[in-house]
Amino acid sequence: MLRKKKEAGEPIVALTAYDYPVAKIVDAAGVDLILVGDSLGMVVLGHPTTVPVTMDEMIHHTQAVTRAVKRAMVVGDMPYGSFHLSEEQTLANALRFIKDAGAGAVKIEGASARRLHLIESMVEAEIPVMGHVGLTPQSIKHLGRFKMAGKTDAEAELILQSAVQLEQAGVFAVILECIPMELAGIVTNRLTVPTIGIGAGPHCDGQILVFHDLVGFNNGYLPKFVKKYADLQTVLSEAVGGYAADVREGRFPEEIHSYHRKKNENGEKKEGQDL
Ligand code: KIV
Repeated sequence: MLRKKKEAGEPIVALTAYDYPVAKIVDAAGVDLILVGDSLGMVVLGHPTTVPVTMDEMIHHTQAVTRAVKRAMVVGDMPYGSFHLSEEQTLANALRFIKDAGAGAVKIEGASARRLHLIESMVEAEIPVMGHVGLTPQSIKHLGRFKMAGKTDAEAELILQSAVQLEQAGVFAVILECIPMELAGIVTNRLTVPTIGIGAGPHCDGQILVFHDLVGFNNGYLPKFVKKYADLQTVLSEAVGGYAADVREGRFPEEIHSYHRKKNENGEKKEGQDL
């Protein structure tokens, strides 16, 4: 389906989600692909990076998302450490996303020689795999900070070659994160599988953002590539502040929020009442 969209020049819409209510909204809005990203470590679990995220956390959140989704493709993100020990470990973890969490595919960061071999094994095991090149946040310990990738000619060439190798290894799409838009255009033209960009400009076959960034449910730093469509942080802070003030000042609960004992036909008080 995503490849057909690329061929037809129809933009692919992707977004992250980490829980049931948000996944319902995202799916109902007609988003094509929902990524249960390991970004959940930062936007939901409060870690400074994605490195501490565990397989159990990813499965727990992916299950919540797949319970909600009726039409979009759900992709589970392989967290740091889940594909670093062996081919056997990688396959076992990828299969957990498919069998235990109901995902339709997995995503794996990076494209080193070791990754390509793992991707081939997963594809061989009939697990659809999405690649991810450019800025790869799981490499933060190595990179030192989150920054644009592909600045020099050598880096740009490496990203292009990595994307080509990922396609050869059998991925069905490639995430391009935080790279110059011209480079994203070159990669997109070179690949037959779709590219999905985040901070990679308009020439990709599709776009993805982190849900919490898009709706402004985040009072931290927002990268330049994010377009904020709402200010949930303010809406929610005002709602909680209003509730706290109402309770303290005796305005909540009111009569309309309270129950009475009802009398039955004999004039006796009824014992139970539905909510
Ligand atoms: O974890 C994530 O949300 C991601 C996207 C930024 C692509 O990998």
